[in-house]
Amino acid sequence: MSSNQPKSSANRDSFASSLGILLAMTGSAVGLGNLWRFPYLVGENGGAAFIIVYLVCVIFICMPIMACEFIIGRRSQANAFGAYKKLGGNKGWKVAGLLSVLAAAFILSFYSVVGGWSIRYMLMSFGLRFTSGGGIQPESTFNTFVTGTWPPILYTLAFLLCTGVIIVAGVKNGIEKFTKTLMPVLFVLMVILAVRSMTLPGAGEGVRYLFKPDFSKFTASSAIAALGQAFFSLSLGCGTILTYASYVPRSENIFTCGAKTTILDTLFALIAGCAIMPAVFAYGISPGQGPGLVFVTLPAIFAELPAGGIAAILFFVSLFLAALTSAISLLEVVIAFLIEECKMRRAAAVAVSMSVFVVLAVLCSLSQGPLSHVKLFTLNIFDLFDYVSSNVLMTFGALLAVLFVGHKLSRADILDELSSGGLHPIPAGLFKTFYFIIRWAAPVVIIGILVAGLLG
Ligand code: PHE
Repeated sequence: MSSNQPKSSANRDSFASSLGILLAMTGSAVGLGNLWRFPYLVGENGGAAFIIVYLVCVIFICMPIMACEFIIGRRSQANAFGAYKKLGGNKGWKVAGLLSVLAAAFILSFYSVVGGWSIRYMLMSFGLRFTSGGGIQPESTFNTFVTGTWPPILYTLAFLLCTGVIIVAGVKNGIEKFTKTLMPVLFVLMVILAVRSMTLPGAGEGVRYLFKPDFSKFTASSAIAALGQAFFSLSLGCGTILTYASYVPRSENIFTCGAKTTILDTLFALIAGCAIMPAVFAYGISPGQGPGLVFVTLPAIFAELPAGGIAAILFFVSLFLAALTSAISLLEVVIAFLIEECKMRRAAAVAVSMSVFVVLAVLCSLSQGPLSHVKLFTLNIFDLFDYVSSNVLMTFGALLAVLFVGHKLSRADILDELSSGGLHPIPAGLFKTFYFIIRWAAPVVIIGILVAGLLG
């Protein structure tokens, strides 16, 4: 090992097994981004054309960025802020860590609101409300609910409470135990749904839509959306992968773990697409329904579908689980920061951060209804949090992470960490390509996307 290898903190919690690490990482990555955002973005941006560009972004840009976060996290064995402080020599790089913690906090604030909606819809599905006799009007039911005052707030708080309860239990006993049990369940539920959807009469058109490219609907802004979605879906640029990686033991192969996480996340997104699009086409609905796809279009389909009540239960349970395993990774970024930088105990850190998140999440929830008139640059509070975190903070966070690894850490240290001190050797050609991407290609593409986003 190189002499620059920082000492690990003796009493830090850590993950216990390789499978636990992979499923925790995948749990962070697979979330509303896969089940809610990916399918509607595919629908709005020309189906397979969007998917192809998305895959290119994932393989050539995001996978290397994820490896960078793994390197920073595991090498420092510290929270996002502490990691840059430790490896960057207590200089300006700390700002990168701070941005990450802020990004995670902003995302969790609006993410919990949608997480709350998923609880409400899950409970409605248990009550068989999405069957032909369930008596819901998908559009007005959704609008009345989200624009209300107390019901969406209470569900949002319930979601935050679930997140807090898991995080209080710690890394091994909370995060790892929980995600290790739930991710396989989520996978099975999604596969059942995809098979059901793809075997509906008329589903073939939806499958073709997903897998046959139509570049006529694909624009420059679709490319920006594809990269932004890839960042969001892989939880990059906001300290989550970095923080989880800081709990990964030195003997673990982080190179393959990052690759497997990326592959599993992409697989989940494609399965979600296969669960949703064929059904949308089978029922003659336009795929470009935007954010309402999951909460409005799908309930309408479930009501018509034979055994739709069961499909609704499977889907909304999946949505809730996926959102929860992502939310805990966001909260852990803040908790690790408070424990290590502000010297708080875990329970106190959860209590303090929760009281802040309650306020922020309530504001996001109210911005759908009673506070919808409060706007900054035409965006309500919810959209503002989403925009600032997804389009600005995460992108900057990812840029700083690759620049830090590519230009601040030495080539030898990077290779040392990526290969776990030589325990898991990396083929020379592969490392050379990776090194070129993180030093030059990824930063150029990210800066290009930032500029394009700002210009228009
Ligand atoms: N990746 C998660 C999803 O797809 C969202 C997320 C973003 C989680 C950033 C953690 C950090 O829904």
